[in-house]
Amino acid sequence: MSSPFRVGISGGGTIGRVHAQALAQISSANLVAVAEPQEDPGRRLASEHGATWYRSIDEMLEQGEIDVVIVATPSGLHPDQAVRAAQAGKHVITEKPMAITADGIDRMISACTEEGVELAVIFQNRLSADVMLVRRAIERGYLGKPVLANGAMYWHRSQEYYQANGGWRGTWNLDGGGAMMNQAIHTVDLLQWLMNGVTSVQAYTTTLTHDIETEDVASASFWFNNGALGSITATTSASRDYPVRVEVIGTEGRVTLENNAVTLCEAAKPLDDSLLTDEDRELVEGWRADEPFGAGHTRQLKTIFKRLADGVQAPVAGAEARRAVDIILGIYESARTGALVKFAR
Ligand SMILES: NC(=O)c1ccc[n+]([C@@H]2O[C@H](COP(=O)([O-])OP(=O)(O)OC[C@H]3O[C@@H](n4cnc5c(N)ncnc54)[C@H](O)[C@@H]3O)[C@@H](O)[C@H]2O)c1
Repeated sequence: MSSPFRVGISGGGTIGRVHAQALAQISSANLVAVAEPQEDPGRRLASEHGATWYRSIDEMLEQGEIDVVIVATPSGLHPDQAVRAAQAGKHVITEKPMAITADGIDRMISACTEEGVELAVIFQNRLSADVMLVRRAIERGYLGKPVLANGAMYWHRSQEYYQANGGWRGTWNLDGGGAMMNQAIHTVDLLQWLMNGVTSVQAYTTTLTHDIETEDVASASFWFNNGALGSITATTSASRDYPVRVEVIGTEGRVTLENNAVTLCEAAKPLDDSLLTDEDRELVEGWRADEPFGAGHTRQLKTIFKRLADGVQAPVAGAEARRAVDIILGIYESARTGALVKFAR
């Protein structure tokens, strides 16, 4: 085996820590550097993994010997950091949302293409065997003609959550939105992935229970590219985190996913493993319905490093990952203007 990829994580907060734990389980990658402006948590995370702490991504890029940068900073910082890493010749893995503006996304994709480095975006919920089965079942017509797809994400996030770590969450500049851009983006991504993209959206957003700039309640109606209609409702104002639900209704059946596992299925044929392609199986290998948070990151990172070693595009590619962000930007535009927002196919 060739030597493991040397990895630097930018952002040693909540999700940076999850990435470090994931890397510890992947033999083809070694965490060697952590860039984190807060010295105590930065040093702690680095030393727990035998890595070197740097105060900034620039220091890490100048002094650290690394092949890959994982961007795990507040969302609004992703484009500048990804571009800097790409220009230093490093492959880029970034957390969702890959960016919070279309311009930011364009800059990231262009820089990685021009520098000949890979860009992969974490969307770990796609790597569920049940989500993959539902996607293939819809494609094969097991639900008949899809007519509706609805998503529901009702979670609890306290005011303290929004104030933590400098209070970047719930701001337009750094979070790029609220319940929709930060939390429900996974559900928007699954809906658009299952239904082949979104044609248009009409939406409402409001802020009901938190002192934040962005929304904590949102409701949007979709027309999907496959002709079906649907919706997403999302909030961070619920009393606790309820299971995230996605339901698809077709002329010959219906299926419900809760936290990425099928909990109800009435389809023309059983959803069994024979529906999956070899590539699907590779992507979802080891998935369990009751897996803890972080297991999805480990599985996606394993695939990313395998693909990097093989010189093949790693999931989820930038052009694919931008779809959910573009839809959410459309949701915000519709909520702001009251107008229907259409998307180019
Ligand atoms: N895939 C998922 O399910 C998932 C879950 C949580 C968060 N995220 C994403 O991960 C990103 C980080 O979220 P989080 O919850 O870990 O936030 P966090 O606030 O817990 O951590 C962010 C860290 O980045 C550090 N930081 C700030 N500016 C920096 C800079 N210029 N360079 C380097 N580090 C810097 C902060 O000090 C902090 O420690 C966000 O984009 C978020 O959307 C993804």
